Amino acid sequence: MSDDKVFDRPREPQDFEFGSEVVAVFDDMVSRSVPYYGEIQRMLAELVMDWAAPGTNVYDLGCATGNTLLAMDPFLAPTVGFVGVDDSAEMLEKCEAKFREAGVSRPFRLERADIGERVPIENASVVVLCLTLQFIRPIYREKLVRSIYEQLNENGCLILVEKLLCADPVLNRSFIRYYYDLKRRRKYSEMEIAQKREALENVLIPYTLEENTKLLDDCGFREVETFFRWYNFCGAIALK
Ligand SMILES: C[S@@+](CC[C@H](N)C(=O)[O-])C[C@H]1O[C@@H](n2cnc3c(N)ncnc32)[C@H](O)[C@@H]1O
Repeated sequence: MSDDKVFDRPREPQDFEFGSEVVAVFDDMVSRSVPYYGEIQRMLAELVMDWAAPGTNVYDLGCATGNTLLAMDPFLAPTVGFVGVDDSAEMLEKCEAKFREAGVSRPFRLERADIGERVPIENASVVVLCLTLQFIRPIYREKLVRSIYEQLNENGCLILVEKLLCADPVLNRSFIRYYYDLKRRRKYSEMEIAQKREALENVLIPYTLEENTKLLDDCGFREVETFFRWYNFCGAIALK
């Protein structure tokens, strides 16, 4: 795994992209930037075990380098298929290489698509959106979540992990401060933190937990439950 040094030198301001520079270091970047990333992946695998029905598919929208699907692979019936979707060709290439290296033997497809536009889902008992909905422009989010709900199998579920905004500005500032402290503990410099924050400003647009819950409710999910929370990060499961 290569070290994330994407923002450790002064850069021209530019929106964050999941291109080759980020893909090369993505696994180091995500595990140092997301609190309890490994535990979140373990919990996703555990939850998916409860909901992935034999003979159906698990979809991972914004699958990146495949960490979520790889974490659940050892625990699911061999008749459960995987579909990883991402709009970054470089991410999907890396994902495929990691699947090959891990010897994933179940049926799987890796599809390049912009999920803000359209997401065809077939025979899915589980759809995962881990740290991805926050990158979809807000005007497209409801259409996406509604289309996931409509295409999910009956009794299927959507698992959502997101960075959050707090409605209260004082709490919001304090949670962000503790988040940057975590990044410092994980050896990101002030320059790296500041440049990445600027690059993500127009690209990663977090909702509050209430906004995300309302979105899931409005799109028809009958039950929404939080399974993970650390300051401004949250995981929730929504049942159809
Ligand atoms: C933070 S990463 C997700 C990490 C991954 N789910 C995990 O748990 O390791 C966000 C991913 O969403 C993808 N993405 C962003 N916008 C997208 C879109 N409109 N359509 C499809 N994929 C998108 C990015 O290419 C990136 O791989």
